Amino acid sequence: MATADGRPFVVLGVSGGIAAYKAVELCRLLVDAGCHVAPVLTEHATRFVGTLTFSALASEPAQTELYGADSVIPHTRLGQSADLVIIAPATAHLLARYAAGFADDLLTATLLATRAPVLVAPAMHTEMWEQPSVVDNLSLLRRRGVEVVEPEVGRLAGGDEGAGRLADPATIAEAALAILDRHQTADLEGRTVVISAGGTREPIDPVRFLTNRSSGKQGHALAFAAAERGATVVLVTSSSLPAPPGVRAVRVETAAQMHEAMLPEAERADAVIMAAAVADFRPASPAATKVKRERGTPQIVLEPTADILGDLVARRKVGQVIVGFAAETDQVLEHAAAKLARKGCDLLVVNDVSAPSVGFDHDTNAVHILAADGSSHAVALSSKRAVADRILDRVNDHLNHSEEKDSR
Ligand code: CTP
Repeated sequence: MATADGRPFVVLGVSGGIAAYKAVELCRLLVDAGCHVAPVLTEHATRFVGTLTFSALASEPAQTELYGADSVIPHTRLGQSADLVIIAPATAHLLARYAAGFADDLLTATLLATRAPVLVAPAMHTEMWEQPSVVDNLSLLRRRGVEVVEPEVGRLAGGDEGAGRLADPATIAEAALAILDRHQTADLEGRTVVISAGGTREPIDPVRFLTNRSSGKQGHALAFAAAERGATVVLVTSSSLPAPPGVRAVRVETAAQMHEAMLPEAERADAVIMAAAVADFRPASPAATKVKRERGTPQIVLEPTADILGDLVARRKVGQVIVGFAAETDQVLEHAAAKLARKGCDLLVVNDVSAPSVGFDHDTNAVHILAADGSSHAVALSSKRAVADRILDRVNDHLNHSEEKDSR
C-alpha cells in the first residue's frame, strides 16, 4: 500500500551478518529512489550496525521489537503496509526461520503478515552458502515466489574469498525497484488467465505411472506473476508445488483430467497458457490391481491422449490469446516455428532443454517466444519468475492489440 503521498512502502529487513553495514547504503538508495523505507533489524543485526544509523537515513525510525513498540501489533502494520519486503543481508539463520514459518521476532512476524512480494539478498561464508540445508531453504522460498538477489564471489569477513558476499547495494536496489514497478503496473487487472502446469501422470496400475521431467516450476511462476500483475488466475496443475496466494488451483493428475478441467475454465479466460508437459500417450488399459513381477514382463499398449491445446484453439473465443509451450533439444527454432504453425496458437514459448540450467526442474530458464506473425523474442537465462514476466508482457501486448483491432 503506497503512502498517502504515493511513495511505495518498503520494509527493509536486516539480519545479523557482517554485511549489515551495506544495508545502510541500500536504505539510502531506496529513499533517494522515492521509496518510504521502514527498517526492521533483528537483534543480531544490531550487533553489527546501530538502529540510529538506519533511523537517521530511513523514512521512519528503525524497529527491532515485536513487543513494546509504539504500535501494539507492529508486524501487522508493517506487513499490511508493505509494497515490498527486502531482507538484506539474509543470513542462513534468517532464511531457515523464514522457510520454516517462524514468527519469533519482528522481522519474521512481518514476513508472515505480508502479502507483498519479498526479495532476499543472502550473504554468508561460502561453506554456509553451499550447505544443503541453506540450498534447500532458498529453493523452498523460491518455489513460494520469493525473489533472490544471489550473492557475489569475492572477499568475505576474516579475509576469506569465495561465493557468499552480499550483492552490491545498487544491484539489490535495482531488483527492488523492478519488482515495485511490475507490481504497481497491474497491467493484467480485469483479465482472467488460465494456466496449466506440471507433467501429467498416466497410470499403468494403481502404483505405477508414466510421466516426464516437468516440475511445474515455470507454470507456477507464471501464475505468481499473473496474479501479482492483477489478473484473476486459475492454475490447473499436476505439480505438488504450492499455489500462489490468491490463485485458484485445480489439482489434476492425468492428461484426461487436465483436459476436462481446462476446457470449461478456458471459456471464461482472456488468455490461456499451456505450460504443462501433457503426456502424448497413456497406457490404453491401466491394470485395476498391481501388476505382479511373477506374471512376467507386461506389454503396455499406449494410446494417444486428447490434444488439449488443439481443442482450446478449436474453441477459441474472439480476442482470446492462447500460448503453447515446446521443449526441444535440437533445431530448436525450426521445430518451434513448425509447431506454432501446426498448433495454431498465438504464441509459442520454446526452450532448449539440452542447454545447462534451462527447463525441467531448474529454477532458471531461457526461452524464445515466437508469435504467429513471425516475430520472435529471446529471453536470456534468468529466473523462471523473470521469464514468466517476459511471457506475460507478450500476452498483454496481444490482448491489447486484439482489443485495438476490435475497436477499429
Ligand atoms: N499439449 C496438449 N495436449 C497434449 C500434449 C501437449 O495440450 N496431449 C500441449 C502442451 O501443454 C504444450 C504443447 O502442447 O503447450 C506441446 O506440444 P506437443 O505437440 O506436445 O509438443 P511435443 O510433445 O514436444 O511435440 P513433438 O513430439 O512434436 O516435439
